[in-house]
Amino acid sequence: MPEISLTEIILLNKLENKSIEFSSSICEWYKQFGRKDLPWRKKVTPYRVWISEVMLQQTQVKTVIPYFDKFISKFPDLDSLSTATEQEILALWTGLGFYRRAKNIYAAKQIIKENYNNEFPSSFEGLMSLPGIGKSTAGAILSIAYKKSFPILDANVKRVIARHDKIDLSDKKSLNKLWYLSELYTPNRKIFEYTQGIMDIGATVCSIKKPSCEECPVNSTCKTAFKEIEIIKKVKKDKACKEIFFTLAHSKNEFLLFKKNSKSFWESLWIPYEGKETRSNTIFKKPHKSNIKKFSHALSHLDLNITIEIFDYKKPFQVKTNLEYQWINRRDIKNYGLPKPIKHIIDNHV
Ligand code: ADE
Repeated sequence: MPEISLTEIILLNKLENKSIEFSSSICEWYKQFGRKDLPWRKKVTPYRVWISEVMLQQTQVKTVIPYFDKFISKFPDLDSLSTATEQEILALWTGLGFYRRAKNIYAAKQIIKENYNNEFPSSFEGLMSLPGIGKSTAGAILSIAYKKSFPILDANVKRVIARHDKIDLSDKKSLNKLWYLSELYTPNRKIFEYTQGIMDIGATVCSIKKPSCEECPVNSTCKTAFKEIEIIKKVKKDKACKEIFFTLAHSKNEFLLFKKNSKSFWESLWIPYEGKETRSNTIFKKPHKSNIKKFSHALSHLDLNITIEIFDYKKPFQVKTNLEYQWINRRDIKNYGLPKPIKHIIDNHV
């Protein structure tokens, strides 16, 4: 055994005390102020935590709540999800964005069925083998659902720790430092309260623009508390802009939609015909009536300038095309995954 010096013992002790003080303060705070009424915090199961964590990966709590409730009322557990089609999962994601997450849920539940006997994995390695689950999401599921001591590092937690220990986020090594500190602070006991507590402090107290340091349970050890905060402006990358032209054909109650197969965005969602009707490229008959709508829609990596020409027909007709298409009745649209702006046009303007 290598010898350990007295100085090293003192240092390790200090580190351990610092970490216990940090996590205990957060657990105490959670008991008093934590958002215990969030739907995924009541009736905790690994499945419910998984669905909520995936939805929360790129979306705020208040937006996620109705989507989570709807998802859970249709698929309350892994058994009910096991026979779901990708389209049923995408349909419940309509409007939430980042549809890759829904496709990952579909792929993951297939893997759980085939490789894990339809039982939700409870090990870090098992969780990491599933699409859509990275180190932080695995940590969240293990700590919240299984009460196992695993660290997390989502955007909110990153901010709390970076400010507490004054980590320079422009430093290339900052991510390693943050993971190291997150591991150091993660307690062996009360892991459920700690994980949710640090998430809540990040979302409510240690907010991006105006942190309420006076309300923070770790303000006495925080290296930046009550100081002018440095707002880290994200370097805005110039987003590419794409013009798209759709032709939306419909009859009184049915809409002609095509399943998108390009990987660039909206993959597997149902959209109107992508293209302009020209004399040389006509897949539609002459419409009974038509009108045009123009608007913009921002994706994370791309701004879309959308023009939709709406063609009104007396009744549905066959289309000569190799593309996958369906005439979908208005009352069945809810069973299909549609991008938000397309759903909006159908619901409000046709
Ligand atoms: N953000 C990510 N996971 C969360 C959770 N479980 N509760 C609240 N916000 C979160």
